[in-house]
Amino acid sequence: MKGLAGKNALITGASSGIGQAIAIRLAQEGCNIAINYRSKPEAAKETETTALQRASEAGYGNIQTLLVQGDVSKEEDILRIMHRVTEQFGSLDILINNAGVQTEHASHEVPTDEFDWVLSVNLRGAFICARETIKQFLAQQRPGVIINVSSVHEVIPRPRYLSYSISKGGMENLTKTLALEYANQGIRVNAIAPGATITPINEAWTDDPEQRAVVESHIPMGRPGTSEEMAAATAFLASDEAAYITGQTLFIDGGLTLYADFRETWSA
Ligand code: NAI
Repeated sequence: MKGLAGKNALITGASSGIGQAIAIRLAQEGCNIAINYRSKPEAAKETETTALQRASEAGYGNIQTLLVQGDVSKEEDILRIMHRVTEQFGSLDILINNAGVQTEHASHEVPTDEFDWVLSVNLRGAFICARETIKQFLAQQRPGVIINVSSVHEVIPRPRYLSYSISKGGMENLTKTLALEYANQGIRVNAIAPGATITPINEAWTDDPEQRAVVESHIPMGRPGTSEEMAAATAFLASDEAAYITGQTLFIDGGLTLYADFRETWSA
């Protein structure tokens, strides 16, 4: 895709699932990739190995990769990650705020420390990464792109996952406010909103045929999405093909946000 080769990208939570697929896809498009992981260096190494292989197959055998440990719920870790990435690559062009967690409780029983934790990873972490990235864009006098990995729960309420829903709702505003504030400096900020996607976060239903059938019955296209489909849309938004797009959330959900229940007429 236009404008990606040679760019420097940081992907948070890139040792599994959607983040891993995005890192691999950006490498395949010729980006240098910084693979952030929290606790599984061997999984991050797998991302790196596959990314290098795909990049080489695509004719980008000379890309640089960097594995960088860090917990995005900790400001000092984010500052360390940013320092490491800019030290290694010299500059930064693309930030993918992908790291995310969720916990399940009836809303009246959500422990405060769990609420704080989910918000600190999904929203506060994304904010601090974005803030530091924008500082870097301004300092290097070369604008770049930020993409937030949000969720269909940016707009669909999610009972029993209150902290998660709130974090993704907040992400919509993070995306729009930053996009508006920095548009005239050439910085673009967008989000992708995956629907149900086959990744480790969803093991509870992806590995259980009955549960999976229930999930699929709510998706107009009748199947979950893949990490690669999320990565393709992310690469597009990061590329110059999307040069005039900012402040948007692209829903990649097989029609989930069209609400399958409305397919048949059930009310006058
Ligand atoms: P996943 O569990 O495979 O990926 C989450 C990644 O974030 C993991 O690599 C994990 O190590 C990392 N992470 C968690 N806490 C972290 C921290 N404090 N610091 C650094 N990294 C941390 O699941 P998946 O599905 O790939 O999730 C990626 C993003 O996609 C998340 O933001 C999630 O909310 C979002 N998403 C996923 C959907 C799905 O159906 N799988 C649907 C909608 C959104």
